[in-house]
Amino acid sequence: MSNVRVLALVGSLRAGSHNRQLAEAAVDAAPAGVEIEIFEGLAEIPFYNEDHDNDQDRSAAGVRLREAIAAADGLLFFTPEYNGTIPAALKNAIDWASRPMGEGAISGKPVAVVGTAYGQYGGVWAQDEARKAVGIAGGNALPDVKLSIPESVVRFAESHPREDAELVAQVADVVRQIADAAKEPVAA
Ligand SMILES: Cc1cc2nc3c(=O)[nH]c(=O)nc-3n(C[C@H](O)[C@H](O)[C@H](O)COP(=O)(O)O)c2cc1C
Repeated sequence: MSNVRVLALVGSLRAGSHNRQLAEAAVDAAPAGVEIEIFEGLAEIPFYNEDHDNDQDRSAAGVRLREAIAAADGLLFFTPEYNGTIPAALKNAIDWASRPMGEGAISGKPVAVVGTAYGQYGGVWAQDEARKAVGIAGGNALPDVKLSIPESVVRFAESHPREDAELVAQVADVVRQIADAAKEPVAA
């Protein structure tokens, strides 16, 4: 049987992103038979504009995202919270993946949303909003896969998440859940 392919999208664009580090911990935690790829290039994707979503004008970066999502069996989002909601870069990716309407790359894909943020709730508002947007976009947002790590800036100031055994176990559990969902056939 071929590997289960999970595409990770990171909602923070900064190089030192703690959410990116969590995604790296997920890559490490993937068991045999599960491949996790972190999508590079969210920053290059222009804001979604229907006027430019045609064969003449369509952004190559947007097409790359759609192709990567289409090729994945499941998606894993790692996102901080920006001003109480989902960061624009991740929302833009969902918008790109949602079109053409009803046939977007995200249609029917299982999506798990986790992350870390500075606040005491670890970005749950952003995660909830991301799940809501994924569902409206046609994806299958997994409501029960949850991991929100508070106080990112303090907790990961001096250590990478992969150095924290308890956290690594939590991330591994998330990976197992998205991989299990990705293995299931998409309902017609
Ligand atoms: C524009 C902006 C808005 C933010 N708003 C929130 C917020 O509403 N809630 C929160 O918990 N943290 C907020 N933060 C802090 C981020 O959670 C924190 O910087 C986090 O570590 C960013 O994730 P990263 O390390 O993956 O870049 C905000 C940060 C930025 C840059």
